[in-house]
Amino acid sequence: MPINLNEQSEVKSLSSKATTKSSPTIVEGGFQIKGVEMAGRPLYLDMQATSPVDPRVLDAMLPFFLNQYGNPHSRTHMYGWESDDAVEVARGQIAALIGANPKEIFFTSGATEANNVAIKGVMHFYKDKKRHIITSQTEHKCVLDSCRYLQQEGYDVTYLPVKKDGMIDVAHFEKAIRKDTGLVSIMAVNNEIGVIQPLSELGDICRKNKIFFHTDAAQALGKIRLNVDELKIDLMSLSGHKIYGPKGIGALYMRRRPRVRVEPQMSGGGQERGIRSGTVPTPLAVGMGAACAIAMQEMAYDEKYIGKLTKQLHKELSSKLEGIVVNGSIEHRYVGNLNISFSYVEGESLLMGLKEVAVSSGSACTSASLEPSYVLRALGVDEDMAHTSIRFGVGRFSTKEEIEKAVELTVSQVTKLRKMSPLWEMVQEGVDLKTIKWTQHE
Ligand SMILES: Cc1ncc(COP(=O)(O)O)c(C=O)c1O
Repeated sequence: MPINLNEQSEVKSLSSKATTKSSPTIVEGGFQIKGVEMAGRPLYLDMQATSPVDPRVLDAMLPFFLNQYGNPHSRTHMYGWESDDAVEVARGQIAALIGANPKEIFFTSGATEANNVAIKGVMHFYKDKKRHIITSQTEHKCVLDSCRYLQQEGYDVTYLPVKKDGMIDVAHFEKAIRKDTGLVSIMAVNNEIGVIQPLSELGDICRKNKIFFHTDAAQALGKIRLNVDELKIDLMSLSGHKIYGPKGIGALYMRRRPRVRVEPQMSGGGQERGIRSGTVPTPLAVGMGAACAIAMQEMAYDEKYIGKLTKQLHKELSSKLEGIVVNGSIEHRYVGNLNISFSYVEGESLLMGLKEVAVSSGSACTSASLEPSYVLRALGVDEDMAHTSIRFGVGRFSTKEEIEKAVELTVSQVTKLRKMSPLWEMVQEGVDLKTIKWTQHE
């Protein structure tokens, strides 16, 4: 249901405390949020950040908010039993999507927690024999930070560089293995550039060397085919909200044979067989299960549909604009991700001008400056180009019309900014900028 902003503002005028800095305020002809005026809601092309809940998922969840609200760990009455049954169905749906046994699935609050449990948990459990971890420079922050935490405890971490296209160099990876390597953590699909890592080759090498193989599959679940046995994956982190499920739920897959052990990161009532204490949130677990069941049925359709829209986006932008570069491998890429840099455009201005399209940028906004993304930096993308990168995330509910609008807005903004760029003018006049010797004025 669309939000009625007039209703919202009425509520706010009754309670000024409800007004937050980022709440929209009504202005003539539209509304203003964070200092930007808009006539309607921006179109959403940021599916790697999060996805809308599929209405079928919401339908599955609602009874567990309203009538079936028992604690799934209550053993003495029907309320508990029915919630427990629903959680187990969801566990089975998640397991089915990755070819696992339901007993190998442990609910968490999301992929961040699953990554923490996998990385810290494995290394803490095997601390007497294994002191080394291999990961990559382009992992999600929660993997990198878990590794840094372990470094502070005295473990060694190898942060593998990636090739220009964002892929791990498998030969290089193999060389990094040591006798005391206890864990390899390489993501399945990169959240910024959509690159799919060679999981099968990495899994083979890990199994041969008897090293546990963990993959952060937050961006891969339900998007690409994942089978834990075929890929020889021992631990896998999953998230609900990237696959049209609810936020606040995820899961960790942990292999039973050969068995992986972890030290739990949370003390408590011993739920989830002691791996993750805390009441399992039934509606959220049911939602994630339903999202997985839908993905299992519709993955092939989604891939085709989303792939077509992304291709349309890429084709139209390329035909209407010169000087655009796709970041990351085109060949080994999730079809719903398009990360593009626009040359001779000022990054911050591009972002500010694109407020009508909800996309992500290759710059992380810190208080004082725009830092180029560490992922793009790892690929060797020039700072200028990293600053002007936009991640378009297309999803199941994106439409052809939204893509057309996004193209129109992006083309007009880039063209406008280039008209103001002296460098662009020089390039148009045929000047090779690389031949220019710039002098610095004191
Ligand atoms: C690759 C990757 N890993 C982990 C996460 C964290 O997931 P969650 O929000 O479920 O904690 C994300 C989400 O941004 C992600 O893209």
